[in-house]
Amino acid sequence: MTASNYSFKTISVVGLGYIGLPTAATLATRGVEVIGVDVKESVVNRLNEGKAHFSEPDLDILLEAAVTTGKLRAVTEPLPADAFIIAVPTPFLPDKSADLSYVESATRAVAKVLKEGDLVILESTSPVGTTRKICEWIAEERPELELPLNGRPGNINIAYCPERILPGRMVFELVENDRIIGGMSNACAQRAESLYRLFVRGALLHTKAAVAELVKLIENAYRDVNIAFANELSNVCEQMGLNVWEAISLANRHPRVNILNPGPGVGGHCIAVDPWFLISAARDKTPLMAAAREVNDGKPKRVLEQVRQQMDRFKRPVVACLGLSYKPDIDDLRESPALHIANALAQEDVNLIVVEPHIQDLPDSLANRANVEKKDFDEALRNADIVVLLVGHAAFKNAPHDLLLSRIVVDTVGLWQH
Ligand SMILES: NC(=O)c1ccc[n+]([C@@H]2O[C@H](COP(=O)([O-])OP(=O)(O)OC[C@H]3O[C@@H](n4cnc5c(N)ncnc54)[C@H](O)[C@@H]3O)[C@@H](O)[C@H]2O)c1
Repeated sequence: MTASNYSFKTISVVGLGYIGLPTAATLATRGVEVIGVDVKESVVNRLNEGKAHFSEPDLDILLEAAVTTGKLRAVTEPLPADAFIIAVPTPFLPDKSADLSYVESATRAVAKVLKEGDLVILESTSPVGTTRKICEWIAEERPELELPLNGRPGNINIAYCPERILPGRMVFELVENDRIIGGMSNACAQRAESLYRLFVRGALLHTKAAVAELVKLIENAYRDVNIAFANELSNVCEQMGLNVWEAISLANRHPRVNILNPGPGVGGHCIAVDPWFLISAARDKTPLMAAAREVNDGKPKRVLEQVRQQMDRFKRPVVACLGLSYKPDIDDLRESPALHIANALAQEDVNLIVVEPHIQDLPDSLANRANVEKKDFDEALRNADIVVLLVGHAAFKNAPHDLLLSRIVVDTVGLWQH
């Protein structure tokens, strides 16, 4: 039997966040019945109204179509299906090792409704060995099922297939990106391939589950180390009084050099978190990755020092923070260095203006403070003594040049270097 011979009538996506929701909506447009599962009732209710609980280009159109045609619905507990995709959070614990409690509880809930021949795929970014743990948790819940462990084929298929879509381009990349398919056996990988073939146009590359787990962590650690190099250069240039963006753009004219852009730090749920899953598993083998984490985590403090130096010139300055999200042109504030910097500045003797065109309301940490106001871009530039550009949103690109020249500007992302 080839992968394309397998069929799926019903597929369940467990965890309807940034990864699970676009995946569920996309699958539903391929003629499969999709059952979304999320422990948060608000997420389930919103999906059943055909709406997303976060903003992502093209997702609302896809969701509305999927829900109105009856192909996608959401519930709070798993129901029987032919395949289950688990996409729940994997944050870190205080010691920076992975918190697998969400994966474990989702797996144990899915185990209750599994039947022979079903496929369970983990998409959450996880430490090496997690897919094996999934087999063990299912075996504990359902001892009568045979899991693909220790060379036995099993009658349940288990695979690890990491996600690498980019917020802001998720609906497109979900279909176009190449994917790693890590099977607990060859048969598991074949079965997982047949699921992704329903909507993926990119290559589907088979390997073992443990290698697939490692590859996802390598990808994010690679990004983190490269960003740290750029951030370290920005610290060096600041000390030397030189322009880091000019230096990097000239260095990048070398045919084999491609340095990334410095910024105010690294945020989000992935790059700032996932390298720790490798570091905590092999501390004495990962000094470079650990140093990269330290450089990137130290960057918000550096930016705050730069802003405070400028603040000393005023009695009570008006400081405008432009952007709160962890990267440009999205509304995601998770682990955002920009938010961290704005929160710290709000504690100072300043009037703080915050501009974030991608969110309606400020987060509680800022909204509840008397010295903080949300304003639009133009108003902020007109009123501020110090302008701190924290996120390179497209909306901030065309700032009036003459106005900027009359303000103290701390541009942490190099958007206005021209
Ligand atoms: N967001 C990204 O850009 C991205 C990219 C690649 C990989 N990942 C990885 O994908 C995974 C999910 O990330 P996300 O950004 O979608 O997270 P998210 O926080 O946006 O969504 C996770 C959802 O899972 C739900 N949930 C938690 N426990 C549950 C359970 N037991 N059963 C059912 N639902 C449960 C939560 O209520 C939430 O709605 C993480 O491991 C993340 O590292 C994320």
